[in-house]
Amino acid sequence: MSGFDKYEKIVELAKRRGFFWPSYEIYGGVAGFYDLGPLGTLLKNRIVEKWREWFVKRNQGFVVEIETPIIMPYKVLEASGHVEHFTDPIVECLRCGRKFRADQLVEESLNVKVEGMGIDELSRLIRDKGVKCPLCGGELSDVKLFNLLFTTTIGPYSQDIGFLRPEAAQGIFTAFKRVYEAFRERLPIGIAQIGRVARNEISPRQGIVRLREFTIMEVEFFFDPENLECPLLDRCKGKLRILRAEDRLKGSQEPVEVDVYEALREKIIKMPWTAYWMCIARDFLIDLGVPEHDMMFEEKLPHERAHYSAQTFDQLVRISRWGWLEVSGHAYRTDYDLSRHMKYSGQDLRVFKRFEEPRVIKSYKVVVNKALIGKLFKDKATDVLNLISSMDVNDLKSKISSSSEEYIVLGGYSIPKSAVSIQEVTEKVSGKHIIPHVVEPSFGAERLLLVVLDHAYSEEDGRVVLKLPRSLAPIQVAVYPLVNDTELEAKAKEIYEELVNGGFYVVYDDSGTIGRRYARADEIGIPVVVTVDHQTLVDSTVTLRDRDSRKQVRVRRDEVLKKIQEFLTGLYEIT
Ligand code: GLY
Repeated sequence: MSGFDKYEKIVELAKRRGFFWPSYEIYGGVAGFYDLGPLGTLLKNRIVEKWREWFVKRNQGFVVEIETPIIMPYKVLEASGHVEHFTDPIVECLRCGRKFRADQLVEESLNVKVEGMGIDELSRLIRDKGVKCPLCGGELSDVKLFNLLFTTTIGPYSQDIGFLRPEAAQGIFTAFKRVYEAFRERLPIGIAQIGRVARNEISPRQGIVRLREFTIMEVEFFFDPENLECPLLDRCKGKLRILRAEDRLKGSQEPVEVDVYEALREKIIKMPWTAYWMCIARDFLIDLGVPEHDMMFEEKLPHERAHYSAQTFDQLVRISRWGWLEVSGHAYRTDYDLSRHMKYSGQDLRVFKRFEEPRVIKSYKVVVNKALIGKLFKDKATDVLNLISSMDVNDLKSKISSSSEEYIVLGGYSIPKSAVSIQEVTEKVSGKHIIPHVVEPSFGAERLLLVVLDHAYSEEDGRVVLKLPRSLAPIQVAVYPLVNDTELEAKAKEIYEELVNGGFYVVYDDSGTIGRRYARADEIGIPVVVTVDHQTLVDSTVTLRDRDSRKQVRVRRDEVLKKIQEFLTGLYEIT
């Protein structure tokens, strides 16, 4: 089965069984928008819950979760740099008016790589190589930058422009001070957020892979840039597969395999906390059913990084249709965001870092004999005083000591040394203000949904079996009477009720042959089926059937709930 065929089959299954489909289909659909159906919603919720488990719950001593609005005022995204930098290159057909993403169009028309090329270079390439509109063959315009922010207005005044957020991060940065204070003013602190974001992609064409609106799951992890220690690195077992930027430049596609200590020692990863979150990201993806050899971290080249990042790794996963697909980004955002929000809001977002012991700090202060300056300079005295006070104290000190005369010259004025002296002062300080630095792991949930389906999809004897990890299965158990029989049906319904009350997602199905019903369950990844047959009426036992091995075992009726619980958590196997 080719990668293309597999993807087509997953898309067909997704529509037919209710995982996902294009939104607004009855009106012809709108590219970049997808609905999640009943099974897709359940599966996405399980993926989100697993993310929360790995990134928040297991780190709850220092990671908290918040929720902030989707609509943001102009000023926030101006401060964050998105108004200026969140752009893609766009080109327009001068004949039919269609617009295209310029880099994609050039890559596809000329079969060249243009990553990192500026708009002037792209325009030149289009002109020199005669690239035309792929739809009507018309001439193309110069390449421009198109901002991907969705715009709206806030309230009834059209000048009050707002945006739909393109990332959850900015709501976190603007709330940072509040969360920090509520969290007893401790660093490091991770602030997580899960929610919808929107990006007005120019021409999204990869189905559910590139959406204009999707669910993002992010942690902004704030730490003291003077203390880079990450005490949790020993939780990071095994190796990370990393394709380094310098190796990419040499044409390599092969990742190196390094443990976190080596990655930090060799300066492959700059920040220890980035390494920590990359390990968590690897383990999370393994938990979603992706084998380690089907994933790696690709270091981005400087021109590929977002405007706020000093180092970025994309976590890539191999899937059948699209090859290596980015599922998460790990950016070292430095103090970029907090510094920008300090500048634009005028608020102090620094944190006070207390020293272990108060420190005695020596400094110098300028003492001016104002009476003498007044007497000497009369109506120019204020100018002279301003000149003195505008000088850096150390510059003034060296000016005084380096002058062999009894005066110093400032701005054309000769000022006697006796009118200006520098005194040493000592003060006790208990700490200092710092701007925390930030590393960020960021995931898109709907992409992960496709990744999970892609890795789970298999065909056996011409039938589809969705081998989802048991803990991800949207429907966890099916209950069937073997044949249509009132007594068997009544028993099966009783078990169905018990399992529903036990907290599971369960289906009851009595239509069609048992073989067809097993096939229907396998196709949507139900890990286990309980079947009630005539023997049940005799000895109060039922069969449990394992989706993957198709093995069946008889268990006592009164043990069903416990066995299912254990089976779904891996504590019990059907052998
Ligand atoms: N916050 C990460 C991103 O916008 O991709």
